[in-house]
Amino acid sequence: MAEEVRIVLRNADKIDPNNVDDYINAGGYQALEKVRGMDPKAVIEEVKKANVRGRGGAGFNAGLKWSFVPPADVKYVVCNLDEGEPGTYKDRTIVQKDPQTVLEGMAICGHAIGSKQGYIYCRGEYPYVVEQLNQAIDQAKAKGVLGDFDIEVRMGAGAYVCGEETALIESIEGHRGEPRFKPPFPGVEGLWAKPTVVNNVETFANLPEIINKGADWFASIGAPNYPGTKVLTLTGDVVNRVPIEVPTNTTIREVIYEFGGGIRNGRKFKAVQIGGTSGGFIPESLLDTPIDFDSMSSIGATLGTGAVFIMDDTRDIVDIVTRISKFFEHESCGKCNPCREGTFRCYEIMKKINRGAASAKDIDNIVLLARVMQKAALCGLGQAAPGPIMTTLQHFRHEYERKLV
Ligand SMILES: Cc1cc2nc3c(=O)[nH]c(=O)nc-3n(C[C@H](O)[C@H](O)[C@H](O)COP(=O)(O)O)c2cc1C
Repeated sequence: MAEEVRIVLRNADKIDPNNVDDYINAGGYQALEKVRGMDPKAVIEEVKKANVRGRGGAGFNAGLKWSFVPPADVKYVVCNLDEGEPGTYKDRTIVQKDPQTVLEGMAICGHAIGSKQGYIYCRGEYPYVVEQLNQAIDQAKAKGVLGDFDIEVRMGAGAYVCGEETALIESIEGHRGEPRFKPPFPGVEGLWAKPTVVNNVETFANLPEIINKGADWFASIGAPNYPGTKVLTLTGDVVNRVPIEVPTNTTIREVIYEFGGGIRNGRKFKAVQIGGTSGGFIPESLLDTPIDFDSMSSIGATLGTGAVFIMDDTRDIVDIVTRISKFFEHESCGKCNPCREGTFRCYEIMKKINRGAASAKDIDNIVLLARVMQKAALCGLGQAAPGPIMTTLQHFRHEYERKLV
């Protein structure tokens, strides 16, 4: 029987999340104290060795990212709590259950890269989380545990693209949230043109335990290439629609049937989409794949943010993909042509297929369009938007063909 392993959510429902003393009594801020006695370079090396890979979707080694930060008079640490991915609520859960662990993780990063200022960029739909975070920051400051590292919260206004790190930076600067060309990467030239480390909430929340227990301990948990745990949020036609934290070598089948309790109302499984709206659709035959980043990529899917959307046998795949295409058409910021035009045309063709007015030629066209978007879009939004179309054409093509004229 697969079991949860709690690193990020270790304090969840055990301490009062709104009381910094509870966090401190549970061992909180010991890791920050420890790193203050360490050479910043050694902290970066430890995080690099732990191989904690970004939990916001791109899966990049956090320590390696920090090691690219050049010397500068001012540097920033940014925590990405935009969480605009439909079906994802893991970052909100982490912050609501244990905000101090995120603040401690940010301060550890601050010490490692030599930054005195952190920002948390919070999704506009989470005003109550902003309130809770401000309270947590006030308490930490009053206790003096953050030292000279300051943290402020900034709020988004509901644009999905603002989760992309450079659009997020533009938004904090007060500009329209549109992605920048990379390079330069934010680590070198980010917020107000200063070196800026952007990491996801869950990435930061892993750091205190990595420092307390060591890189080797962390690296020994889960899948060797993507060690540790992953917080997943189960949604859709599953019995238990809950957040869980599992080792990264857990299989998708275990996630759905052991943690999720199987399919609702005794129905049969049809598909699961992991990683949010842009995630690939996975059929029954691939359910024994582990959820780690590389295993998911190897089957043309993604781990992404860890949203797990389960569909039973009554679901119409083409209809679902059409709705997803509408989401991307709506959320494309319009800065680059492949995404602005591509998401619009994808939605147009998907609607045509869905209403039974399309021919095989339309499928050829959407595949061509998808390939151009994957290669030519400026940011991950346009690059990943065709993922659901491509993976459903691979695994559920018969559902498309059934609707052709
Ligand atoms: C359209 C789009 C939306 C994104 N939304 C988020 C988000 O809500 N939260 C997040 O952490 N990363 C998001 N990302 C990924 C970020 O650009 C970035 O890779 C991440 O914040 C880095 O943190 P990590 O290395 O700890 O994962 C998004 C990327 C794209 C292209």
